[in-house]
Amino acid sequence: MTFVDAVTKAAEFSGIALPKPEAKSPEQVSHTQALYDINDKTCTFFEKQLQLPENKSRLDYFKGRKLSEKTIKKFRLSYAPDSFDLLLKHLEKNQANLKLAEELGLIQKKKDGKNFYVKFRHRMMFPFFNVAGKIIGFGGRELKEEQQPKYLNSPESEIYKKGLTLYGLYQAIQSIREQDFLILVEGYFDLLRLVEAGQKNVVASSGTALTDQQARLMARYSKNIYIAYDGDGAGIKAAIRNAQIIENQDLSVYIVPMPDGEDPDSYVLKHGLSAFNELLKKRTLPIEFQLDQYIKQNPNPSLEEKDHFIADVLNELVLFKSASKTGLYIHHLADRMQVSEAMLVSEINRLKQRRARFNKARKNNDTHEEKPQQERPAIKRGAYKAEEGLLALLLNAADETQKYVANHVSINLFENEDYAGLYDHIIHDIEENGKVDVQKLFENPDLNENQHLILTKLTIDQISNEMKHAIGCIFQLKKWQLEKEERDIQNHIKVDNSEEAQMHFTFELAKLNKEKRQLNKDYQHDLKLYRSDDD
Ligand code: UTP
Ligand code: MN
Repeated sequence: MTFVDAVTKAAEFSGIALPKPEAKSPEQVSHTQALYDINDKTCTFFEKQLQLPENKSRLDYFKGRKLSEKTIKKFRLSYAPDSFDLLLKHLEKNQANLKLAEELGLIQKKKDGKNFYVKFRHRMMFPFFNVAGKIIGFGGRELKEEQQPKYLNSPESEIYKKGLTLYGLYQAIQSIREQDFLILVEGYFDLLRLVEAGQKNVVASSGTALTDQQARLMARYSKNIYIAYDGDGAGIKAAIRNAQIIENQDLSVYIVPMPDGEDPDSYVLKHGLSAFNELLKKRTLPIEFQLDQYIKQNPNPSLEEKDHFIADVLNELVLFKSASKTGLYIHHLADRMQVSEAMLVSEINRLKQRRARFNKARKNNDTHEEKPQQERPAIKRGAYKAEEGLLALLLNAADETQKYVANHVSINLFENEDYAGLYDHIIHDIEENGKVDVQKLFENPDLNENQHLILTKLTIDQISNEMKHAIGCIFQLKKWQLEKEERDIQNHIKVDNSEEAQMHFTFELAKLNKEKRQLNKDYQHDLKLYRSDDD
């Protein structure tokens, strides 16, 4: 069965009504289709070039890098010939719209402003696929030393958005789902090497800083990410930075230690997949990795150097939402740096307060600044109210309501860092002692100034009809969370008009809709169950 048919059937079986994708005008659809079509034609052309007898040495290049026919075919690896016009002529012969080829960055106007020339010349080609298997762009690797850049990539276009794409994801989806973890590598060749060796749950970040959307894209297939980057200075830095980005999306992330000077490609070539699997077993939390790296480079740091490093780490930890995770990291840091944990705790507390003051000052200063339009402000305000409501209930409500909230809420539900932090402390208290000691909470040195203010407000908040309030707040926050995911998916749909992509994301939307319906049901059910007499 094709994917599309399978989704339709599965939807039928499970009684899910597939929502209609956003209507696109016929011109729009044919425009996007035409873009895919040109990329596909171009790729086929590059693939044919690779097989020509005169280009045998190009094919030998892939063979030399130990890639099999099967992998070459699966990823449609190919060759852009050393010519300013061969591809151009090919496209013309096939009646392709050259304006569209220009839009895709395959060709460019010459200085004369009339004629075109081909952008990818004498390069090994790596097509980029979207999750539906359509080609949205290309990366081309140099074949001569003097060629710059080493990898030339397609510019962004209507169908290719760099920050929404992960190289190799399309080919990896099934394996990621089966194994429930994903290996994130830097380079195309790292990925291909692992696939060649039989490890298929791999995607490549293509050497740049990850975006939040890319992290969420991974999360859709698995929540367990292992970063296996180059074992050089740049790779280590990138691994730590990207680990933070992934961590902030509430994913569990580990870093795989790579020997200095190796990348997954070279390592697997030299030592085989089973040795690589041993490396996977040695994966560590990002903080441990960072500490290991530091100690390796500075076996005997002076007090000043130590101080410098600790300050760097604390400045990163201060950005963490979860207090328990921060605590864990502080613990590791104190242990390995042989400094007092209490000292680190009070230091991070000071940083948090400074940051809170800084944020407040910034908010007051640039009220005119354009906000990134990811979250709608109205929702944000409402969400904070709901978050605050839940905290107030955890502090003041009767046992039954408190239990209900504790059972139905998790830290991911909180958008606001300060509320999230408070929640973390409160729930910790409840889990340990069965109740919250508000006085002790006030004295907790982990709380920043803003959190103190919130806490004061919360303890005097009077909430009538507690249970109903709890049910309402939880419902609202969960609903907004689903809506946020929905917007994410809608963003993908906007970028990709292909039938397969529409089906894929429509299916994801259908799943979300089902979750929304379940949420509504639970909400109604709980409201009825806990209806009080004065309702
Ligand atoms: P590397 O320079 O490590 O390349 O860049 P590589 O993948 O190991 O390739 P080989 O083994 O030297 O042939 C890692 C990744 O960063 C991106 C590419 O995705 C590359 O695979 N990159 C690198 C670019 O996009 N542009 C560049 O100029 C360099
Ligand atoms: Mn590399």
